[in-house]
Amino acid sequence: MHLLTIIGARPQIIKAAAMSRAIASLPGSPIRETILHTGQHYDANMSQVFFDELGIPRPDIALGVGSGSHGVQTARMIEGVEAALLEHKPDAVLLYGDTNSTLAGAVAAAKLRIPVAHVEAGLRSFNKAMPEEVNRIVCDHCSTWLFCPTQTAVDNLRNEGFDLSTEHAPTADRPHVLLSGDVMYDNSMHFASIAEQRSAILAELGVRKGGYILATVHRDNTTDDPARLNAVMGALLHAHEEHGLDVILPLHPRTRQRMNALLAPELSARIERATGFHVVPPAGFLDMIALEKHARLVMTDSGGVQKEAYFFGVPCVILRPETEWVELVANGQARLADADPMRIAEAGRHFLASGMPAVKPLFGDGHAAERICAELLNSTSRR
Ligand code: UD1
Ligand code: UDP
Repeated sequence: MHLLTIIGARPQIIKAAAMSRAIASLPGSPIRETILHTGQHYDANMSQVFFDELGIPRPDIALGVGSGSHGVQTARMIEGVEAALLEHKPDAVLLYGDTNSTLAGAVAAAKLRIPVAHVEAGLRSFNKAMPEEVNRIVCDHCSTWLFCPTQTAVDNLRNEGFDLSTEHAPTADRPHVLLSGDVMYDNSMHFASIAEQRSAILAELGVRKGGYILATVHRDNTTDDPARLNAVMGALLHAHEEHGLDVILPLHPRTRQRMNALLAPELSARIERATGFHVVPPAGFLDMIALEKHARLVMTDSGGVQKEAYFFGVPCVILRPETEWVELVANGQARLADADPMRIAEAGRHFLASGMPAVKPLFGDGHAAERICAELLNSTSRR
């Protein structure tokens, strides 16, 4: 089977590591993988670092699309992906998540009638103001295989009218919806001990295990809204001052730009003066999971970081109005606080006082990628 994998944004590159590992371990090499990088993320610490440290094969095709408005960026990607698909003629296209790279891959492949496999299918925020919600709905409805990380994702698809039977050979009109588990869980399990050996980030930052809050912020509805951006950054500073914990904020380039432009000068100066408030460049994945594993608390608007906090038994304050990972909130392992300073402070106090309830497995068994490979091979032989 010739599979063409499309990646572009940081979390997709990381997720691709799990699939490439599973593909490489298949006896007899039944899957040949061609990797296309759209270039949506291009800074070394948003892209190259993950190839260097996670053993992902170098991209065979690099579109170098870069940044732009949604329309410009997606259009350039569709054009480049279409040309690559015509040239490489894969049997299927593998897509991850909900970025503009996912959307472009889904549209280009579906129009060429090349079957699409969507990893992280079925997630919904039920908020179409999020660009990701639009991307994931379009991708799901173009897919031949929908690999769901959670039962909630399967249920969402059933509620949208997807047929859950898998007796037939899958097609774009009658796709297979499957509960595969989460490839990010595969990765966290695989890389946790490697990170422990190789990452020196805690020593480099001079923080002790359990002595800091790890925070990330990059959603456009926070970074691009001055009131929300100032509210979130003010709340992080407040948590640092109230609890005497360090804050580590590996900063997405989008957030750095918006902070330079939109943060109130007084707040900016207070953050700069606060020893123990570490605003650092985006971290590599090994450093990131070392930071997550030893954090006292995570505060984030990232989808991936919410889950990784849970994988490592660390409670999480979600800096969004809603989440696709509703299980985390339902089980008390995470709390929604949006960009509301009162709710952020209250959730932080709650978790610092009472810790996190016991973790039960919600995202599979660490073998989602193997399951996805098996289904692709099995159902392709039936097509
Ligand atoms: C994208 C995804 C989002 C995902 C996130 C992961 C979409 C619509 N959004 O958001 O779902 O959670 O990636 O990190 O696809 N920039 C750089 N260097 C880079 C990359 C970006 O400076 O290497 C800056 C550019 O100014 C760019 C901005 O960041 O305009 C936003 O990048 P973009 O890829 O458009 O969206 P993200 O916010 O990264
Ligand atoms: N991540 C990383 N370095 C960072 C921030 C995040 O390696 O500085 C990893 C994180 O561990 C997770 C993924 O990137 O695996 C999440 O990506 P991001 O937060 O950019 O996007 P989202 O998951 O919200 O789409």
